[in-house]
Amino acid sequence: MDEETKLSRKTVLRAALAAGVAAPVALLGGPALARTAATSGQVPALTPSCHDDDDPTPEQIEGPYFKPNSPERTSLVTPGTQGTRLTLTGYVFGLACLPVDRALLDFWQADVNGAYDNTGYTFRGHQYTNAQGAFTLSTIVPGLYPGRTRHIHVKVQAPGRPILTTQLYFPNEPRNNTDSIFDARLLMTVRDNGSAKEAAFDFVLNVPQNPPTTTVTSPPPGGTTWAAGTAYAAGARVTYGGRDYVCLQGHTAQPGWEPPNVPALWRTA
Ligand SMILES: [Fe+2]
Repeated sequence: MDEETKLSRKTVLRAALAAGVAAPVALLGGPALARTAATSGQVPALTPSCHDDDDPTPEQIEGPYFKPNSPERTSLVTPGTQGTRLTLTGYVFGLACLPVDRALLDFWQADVNGAYDNTGYTFRGHQYTNAQGAFTLSTIVPGLYPGRTRHIHVKVQAPGRPILTTQLYFPNEPRNNTDSIFDARLLMTVRDNGSAKEAAFDFVLNVPQNPPTTTVTSPPPGGTTWAAGTAYAAGARVTYGGRDYVCLQGHTAQPGWEPPNVPALWRTA
């Protein structure tokens, strides 16, 4: 399959942006979209971390402080937790830049003082991506400890695939320049939100994916009202191959965006 016939997240976003319609929320990320809309009212930029030809997210050493069997949770903070609150959001993609559903993310990090909890599970937790490949972690900005720049450890694993062990970094940290493990490809985007911080990072796993093609010529039998070139508003209903669908995001339909191919745009009614 050549690049022209791939239907990718990026392709959909580009087309939606070019057409001046709202890009599918599920493809942009709710938090990112909400942030951007609230602050600037402008169309958010494409998520920079996943492109059709992206290399997988680099591996990093595990370090000495990983512990298996962390609790499943998306928040590592409690009301009494000290430190600057940090919300990390992102997606897990495969090699075709399509989301990975039920990817495991196991995070661990130092507390505000730069210490790891090696007896319990403070600042340790695992979670799974949703059907859009999205995850959210509520934590704090980890403290510094000798010899390292500021970082968050994570293991990421698509179902049935090898584990990616890596670390995420903060921009504009003085120690980034002197930490021999630091890798700029693993920098999160970080912004202030009041007294808290919001970070984003998208993982690309070495997972083969077969994206739907744009060469769909005819729908299956059973009746079809969907048509390429039609502008559909959110809530619009169509039939495709005898199945009824509801439009999730306004867009102008294009070949390759048939309802069964683009769950971000259509769901079954
Ligand atoms: Fe560490």
